[in-house]
Amino acid sequence: MNQLICTKCKATYSLNEPRWKCDCGSVLDIEFEAVFDLAKIGKRKPTMWRYREAIPIQDDANIVSFDEGFTPLTKVNFNGKSVLMKQDQLFSTGSFKDRGASVLISKVKELGIKEVVEDSSGNAGSAISAYGAKAGIDCHIFVPEDTAAGKVAQIQLYGAELNRVPGSREDTAKAVLQAAEKVYYASHSWNPFFFQGTKTFAFEVCEQLGWKSPDTIILPVGNGTLLLGAYIGFSELLQAEIIAKIPKIIAVQSENCAPLYRAFRENLAEIPMINKKETLAEGIAVAEPVRGNQIVDAVKQSKGNFIVVSDSEIKKALIEICRKGYYIEPTAAATIAEIRKYLPQTKATEVIVSVFTGHGLKTTEKMLKLLK
Ligand SMILES: Cc1ncc(COP(=O)(O)O)c(C=O)c1O
Ligand SMILES: [Zn+2]
Repeated sequence: MNQLICTKCKATYSLNEPRWKCDCGSVLDIEFEAVFDLAKIGKRKPTMWRYREAIPIQDDANIVSFDEGFTPLTKVNFNGKSVLMKQDQLFSTGSFKDRGASVLISKVKELGIKEVVEDSSGNAGSAISAYGAKAGIDCHIFVPEDTAAGKVAQIQLYGAELNRVPGSREDTAKAVLQAAEKVYYASHSWNPFFFQGTKTFAFEVCEQLGWKSPDTIILPVGNGTLLLGAYIGFSELLQAEIIAKIPKIIAVQSENCAPLYRAFRENLAEIPMINKKETLAEGIAVAEPVRGNQIVDAVKQSKGNFIVVSDSEIKKALIEICRKGYYIEPTAAATIAEIRKYLPQTKATEVIVSVFTGHGLKTTEKMLKLLK
């Protein structure tokens, strides 16, 4: 049965209803049977839409796409050990968020909705704005007032209305919820269609490995859109008996904002309120992730782990990866800092996949500071 289902009370709704949360107030998931015809997939264009029958958009005419996806999986050497890096900084808007935005805005178009609101630390807002521009959908994007200039410029040049909210990322999330009472909420954290796009990360990785899953994936986590998407994707491939296991998920948070790390380490039933401090990794500085419990469960199910990294480790990792020729933003470098921490415990045979989540050109002011 293809439907929306509440993660808490299990109420179900049609996929054709313009809704992004349950009447009980909880987040929704999508129940959908993903179909994979490997021969067909192999003959299609190298984009994330090659997995067409695994993506719950009904009519091809509604697909909003820049031919995104199938990003390179490139071997990078760290102190003699190699990690396969998915180059998701190469997406059209410069971050992996295009995966989610492509499917979510396609669904928005399918629902006949002409106007959306979204809140973001900048990258999801940029992605929603770009796909909104392509689809002719008006976007109102809410960001914290200290959002990186590159992301703010992108959002406005794509033609979206920008709302800068004073205070923290959490204040921005509160401001958008008010706006979402009147206008459809194209939220990367709440809206389950976004995760139907980020799940293609897992499909691409497995296809690029000859339809095998890696042993381990190392991912950054704030709201968990990539982590949960990847988990959904690997689970669907396992269900379809295409792969034999779900990889172990190693999740990174910033030491200055690590509610999920704490919930995992202290085995807490609820995500704790934390005293958040500033961090270089603006994209993962999420103190109150709405899908927090789901994220912790996914990491547990995969027999994975959470690791935290400090700003000085992120800075060192960013300089190290730039020196290898990869120009990524500080949030994406948190993952590199995590790789450096994780690798000493691994065997040479462990197949490890990770990701460059965002392009360095988005955060020029922070990059210039590294030179000082
Ligand atoms: C570059 C970058 N990496 C990682 C993340 C974390 O993604 P998520 O909040 O979906 O876990 C973000 C989120 O904005 C980001 O912009
Ligand atoms: Zn419910």
